[in-house]
Amino acid sequence: MIVSTVHRRACLNAPILSPTFSFSRTMMAAATQTKRVAKEEGTIADVFTTLGKGSEVAPLPARFAQLKKDVLADMGVTPASIVQTWKHVLTALETRTEEIARLGGQVIPRVSFIDIKHGLSDAQKDDIKKSGVVVVTGAVPREEALEWKASVKEYIAANPVKGFPADNIQAYELYNTKAQIAARTHPAILHTQQALLQLWHDPSNQHVDFSTPISYFDRLRIRTPGDASFTIGPHVDGGSVERWEDPTFRKVFRRIFEGGAGWKLHDPFDVSWRMNAKQDLYHTPSQCSILRCWQGWTSLSTTDVGEGTLRVLPMLSLSTAYIMLRPFFRPGSAGGEWELDLESNSFPGSVPGKTQELNEETHPHLRLGETMTSIPKIHPGDQVYWHCDVVHSVERLHGGQEDSSVFYIPAVPLSLKNASYLRDQRNNFEQGLPSPDFPGGPGESTFIGRATPQDITTRRGRQAVGLEPFMSRVIAHDELVDAANRVLFG
Ligand SMILES: [Fe+2]
Repeated sequence: MIVSTVHRRACLNAPILSPTFSFSRTMMAAATQTKRVAKEEGTIADVFTTLGKGSEVAPLPARFAQLKKDVLADMGVTPASIVQTWKHVLTALETRTEEIARLGGQVIPRVSFIDIKHGLSDAQKDDIKKSGVVVVTGAVPREEALEWKASVKEYIAANPVKGFPADNIQAYELYNTKAQIAARTHPAILHTQQALLQLWHDPSNQHVDFSTPISYFDRLRIRTPGDASFTIGPHVDGGSVERWEDPTFRKVFRRIFEGGAGWKLHDPFDVSWRMNAKQDLYHTPSQCSILRCWQGWTSLSTTDVGEGTLRVLPMLSLSTAYIMLRPFFRPGSAGGEWELDLESNSFPGSVPGKTQELNEETHPHLRLGETMTSIPKIHPGDQVYWHCDVVHSVERLHGGQEDSSVFYIPAVPLSLKNASYLRDQRNNFEQGLPSPDFPGGPGESTFIGRATPQDITTRRGRQAVGLEPFMSRVIAHDELVDAANRVLFG
């Protein structure tokens, strides 16, 4: 079944580059290992410190005091330098928070699928990169999205589903419905993802193929009017203290620590270090272990502000700089200037294995009460994507009259690590089990009417879920694609 890209190019008389050995035996061995341990059974609440559990956060172990010193030593940063950077960031925040509070939803870029097909303008790209979020309208026809929702509702009625909260489910532990599969492999959704992934870059040009989106099976939400249980406060996905603790992960943010206004050099779209960052250092349920460039969802409902929708903090680089610097500072005594804190074990809002949570007490300079911005009115079939470092939340109350429903469908590129995950996800899918990053257990294995590989008929769709080998589009990716195909198909 395997297709050698090098062989294909030879057949096409295309030039073949000499092997670059980008993928060492060690890398291939790691990618082909088959002992990915299933995660504990549970729900979406497991990855949050506070969802359904109140706001008490236990102190971190004492070793985290040393971690602060280790990070600064690793970055080659002096205390004086980080103080200077902190002041620059606080000054910049004053302006940007004011701007976001004033403009509200206007700050969130909105593009049509026609824009995507014609190619985004530089201005659109700049807006998306600055805010870290984008709404894409018109890719999926309204009727098609509504059919997906109706199909899911039938599936829910026919099967013993689980979710959060257990007695009135709003977020379902469902990964393998036919409708989710149809959406994940929908040509317009894949096309959208391909366009948004192009905003990222891989300086090596060998390790990540942004022109090839792959599927990451996440769950779905059908939030009912009046619900106040599915209240997710401001947070960033992909681990919390892991950002500092994992030596590779923290290098993603190295420029922020360079001093002065160096944080402006931080490039959130550079994949160099992020592609191998260990976000899932503690192997916890619902913690993303792969390179997920854009978190996202596709709407199944008409949902306005105040109707239980997503909220975002639309200032990607600046909020990231603040979040990364925050543990190194504490409020001054008697309300004075904030001061350096390299002694305590305090990483506000961080709990190992959970998402990075934020609130107005832990991260006051973000002015979250005014700057968390609801996604303006969206319709069935519209998509929303937000960068993996963007602070986001879900409105506390669903005050609308109709359900507020989404399929969580992120934009994920092909890489060796992601191919390894895709293989295991595909194997779970064939058995009706949850995707490997998510709470384990029997999942939908005994459910009536779940999706099977036979439901996916397009080549691109079958490639996206790991059922057919990938084809390289550019010579620079030949080796990656061959390696990924070996991981997937042996
Ligand atoms: Fe999240």
